[in-house]
Amino acid sequence: MLNIHDVSLTFNEGTPDEKIALDDINLELQKGEFVTVIGSNGAGKSTLMNVISGSLIPDVGDVLIDDQNVVHLPEYKRSKMVGRVFQDPMAGTAPSMTIEENLAMAYSRDKKRRLVPGVSKKRKDHFRDYLDTLNLGLEDRLNAKVGLLSGGERQALSLLMATFTEPKILLLDEHTAALDPSRAELITKITGDVVSKFGLTTMMVTHNMQQALDLGDRLFMMDKGQIIFDVKGEEKQNLIIKDLLDEFQRIRGEQIASDKAILG
Ligand SMILES: Nc1ncnc2c1ncn2[C@@H]1O[C@H](COP(=O)(O)OP(=O)(O)OP(=O)(O)O)[C@@H](O)[C@H]1O
Ligand SMILES: [Mg+2]
Repeated sequence: MLNIHDVSLTFNEGTPDEKIALDDINLELQKGEFVTVIGSNGAGKSTLMNVISGSLIPDVGDVLIDDQNVVHLPEYKRSKMVGRVFQDPMAGTAPSMTIEENLAMAYSRDKKRRLVPGVSKKRKDHFRDYLDTLNLGLEDRLNAKVGLLSGGERQALSLLMATFTEPKILLLDEHTAALDPSRAELITKITGDVVSKFGLTTMMVTHNMQQALDLGDRLFMMDKGQIIFDVKGEEKQNLIIKDLLDEFQRIRGEQIASDKAILG
């Protein structure tokens, strides 16, 4: 579903601020695979997602989604293929619009962007059914302005908007990090449910190691623009946090004081 070939990206090349953000990344994700991504601050995780979504073009390398090379395809032309939820609950939704209007916009993402004044009854029922799966009571608040929702509710809505058109790739960039622990747990659960319901090919960045171990069927660790550790299946199921720390130390040959050092 996703193929990344020899992708490198350096910011501010040739200046004192030069920063190699991606260093010859090669990655293949099978259809339906759910990978969790960990790594310290500045490891290149968000940059990798930006390259997949099209908000950044790498210096070299290719990005293939479903065998189509999209590396030079602008972000808006990939929006049907790629669903994305960010850390900031304010980022994924339009606060001055109602829940229904936000959903309608996400629904017509691949079509011409225009605000349809009326949403058909069939479409409305469809939205209600989707919202119902969140168990947050949002299905009864279709006309509420999104700006009035709590961070957790907005993040759940963002997740729904990013997924219900069944994108080929779902990118989640620390999407539970800004939430309180109980909301984070709820969104984590909803994430697992939504991903398995649609069988979405998913990449989720998190600084929460336990979350990275609990969710998904594959895990990789990034450091200094490289994927330094990549496990899947049973090997991942059996991992514990200490294994990840030991692995980091083994590969990097660096002593780490605590999991904070690797996870930021
Ligand atoms: N637009 C940019 N211009 C210059 N440097 C950038 C830019 N975006 C990212 N970087 C740098 O590239 C490196 C990788 O950044 P990136 O955001 O991918 O890290 P990350 O792994 O997502 O970290 P975090 O866990 O803090 O979110 C960092 O050193 C960052 O400062
Ligand atoms: Mg990041």
